[in-house]
Amino acid sequence: MKPLSTAVATLAVLIAPALASPMATTTNAATATAADIPDGPAATALDPGPASLTIRVTNKAGVDLTTYQSPLQQTGIIRNGAVAVNYYPQKWNGSIAINSHKYFAPIGDESLIEASYDDKDAAFAVVDVDISYVDGFSYPIMCYCAANGAYLSGCDKKLWTLGNKCPSNNGKATCVNPKRKVDLDNVTPDPFFAPCKGLAYT
Ligand SMILES: *[C@@H]1O[C@H](CO)[C@@H](O)[C@H](O)[C@H]1NC(C)=O
Repeated sequence: MKPLSTAVATLAVLIAPALASPMATTTNAATATAADIPDGPAATALDPGPASLTIRVTNKAGVDLTTYQSPLQQTGIIRNGAVAVNYYPQKWNGSIAINSHKYFAPIGDESLIEASYDDKDAAFAVVDVDISYVDGFSYPIMCYCAANGAYLSGCDKKLWTLGNKCPSNNGKATCVNPKRKVDLDNVTPDPFFAPCKGLAYT
């Protein structure tokens, strides 16, 4: 996959109503490979990317949502139809949990936006993002690159409505994922989570 430019490090995250490929942990700004690095003094030729990563979270859930950011330990509210815009510096990694306005995040079982903007994998900071239902599921989340609309990660399936019973409903608008402690790749997801396998972490 052709790396996207780090010059526009803005992600657009859409949260779909709850009732309504290969693993897309796509590093949108890409691990530079030898082929990507021009001949010559590459170190000085590389664009270091913007100082911060922007994540715009659009609430399309049809209700107000609550959020909880780690590691900031910051709670927030995104009104129905509103967009929350957050800026994160280089070397940041963290997550945003999403729940309904009825049960303030964090319950601990929410759908998560997980992202980082650091230079662990390349000579300059790159963006890595995924949507995780490993702790549990509250709302469907999709993530796109704001610059070109490219799908990055996420699953818009309304898992509550697909006929698979939540294996452990905590009664707080979230379904606990029974596989959360199984730290292996290719774990067979619980049937409730299975429709999102390969799209979000399940
Ligand atoms: C940040 O990354 C570290 C190392 O991978 C991880 O242990 C930690 O949980 C991450 N922080 C958040 C808030 O996700």
